[in-house]
Amino acid sequence: MSATIVGWGMAVPEQIWTNAHLESMVDTTDAWIVSRTGIRQRRIADDGDTTFSLGLDAATRALAQAGLSAADVDMVIVATLTPETPMPATANLIQDAIGARSAGAFDLNAACAGFTYGLEIGRALIDAGSAQTVLVIGSETMSRVVDWTDRSTCVLFGDGAGAVVMQGSATGGIRGNSLGSDGSGAPLLHIPAGGSKLPASMETVRDRLHLLSMNGRAVYKFAVKATVRAAAVAMARAGWQPTDLDLFIPHQANLRIIDAVANELRLPDERVIVNADVYGNTSSASIPIALCEAVDQGRVNQGDRLVLVGFGAGLSWAAVAVEWTAPVTPSDGSASGAGATVPRQSASAARRLP
Ligand code: UT7
Repeated sequence: MSATIVGWGMAVPEQIWTNAHLESMVDTTDAWIVSRTGIRQRRIADDGDTTFSLGLDAATRALAQAGLSAADVDMVIVATLTPETPMPATANLIQDAIGARSAGAFDLNAACAGFTYGLEIGRALIDAGSAQTVLVIGSETMSRVVDWTDRSTCVLFGDGAGAVVMQGSATGGIRGNSLGSDGSGAPLLHIPAGGSKLPASMETVRDRLHLLSMNGRAVYKFAVKATVRAAAVAMARAGWQPTDLDLFIPHQANLRIIDAVANELRLPDERVIVNADVYGNTSSASIPIALCEAVDQGRVNQGDRLVLVGFGAGLSWAAVAVEWTAPVTPSDGSASGAGATVPRQSASAARRLP
């Protein structure tokens, strides 16, 4: 018995900030951002958008896509590093809002690897008989923890949410995984204050310690190695070679990282999903958003072999190898708010860096 994805949905804020907009905020240029990251724009939460509201929208769409009701849900897992509040968990709020009265709920913080960690936990709960239907949500409002005066980080991130519904499956579904951590790299990407070590104070706010801080070069090197290794291990556990792969869905941090990984794994452009150009890095939301868009674009078919890999703060990483089992009826792209007002490039065009 394994577990498989039976529903999917996404939600992103309406507001779009282009690189030109960021040029008016910090000392940067569109040319620098595109050449170093491939990012051209990102969605930014409006006053009314929160990690809860975006996650709720994505979850509601995923349940509708699956043809299930909230009463069917046994567990709600929200992967996030930007929870609605430190306590209670955002998952509790979404469980209540959708009316999943018999579900458990908890948040999971594995930063940008959170969603793929969540998929493996969902699989394990279903496999153990602890749950029949699990809702896994990745939702982030990175704009609320980004330092908008720090040009080296603020150009990278965006907001959004994606969700999947998982159920048991006799065939297909999750076939392999690789979960990892190297906490010695914790200072490379962190939010120093707001926890037990440095509780909120006038000083921590003054020193901007509640905002994200990153050593970009070190994280870049880690990201390429960790993603290649995690993907290779998950594929090996599934009994697959890279040539067996139909679609690779990496965390959408940076096109250079995605390209370097694809080159190492010898994956052609058409088997790699890229949408960092329009959403930036949405942390735990990036993989489910990319999955939803891949389905909408008709790039996922029953029987396809997919590998999804997340990496980020922790340092953490998680890959899952999934044999897609669901009949594919594209979700309503207009309802997702995705692509409605943005001229999209093809994935291969998006990948071409100047
Ligand atoms: O979910 C995981 C999250 N993290 C990541 O994926 C980040 C991984 N790292 C990266 O993607 C890259 O390291 C960055 C895109 C963050 C930075 O690219 P880089 O090629 O490593 O640049 P750098 O940090 O070495 O900076 C090169 C130069 C510096 O100027 P000097 O010292 O050479 O004069 C920076 O001050 O670029 C400057 N710079 C900028 N210039 C214009 C840094 N940020 C900007 C900017 N606009 N936004």
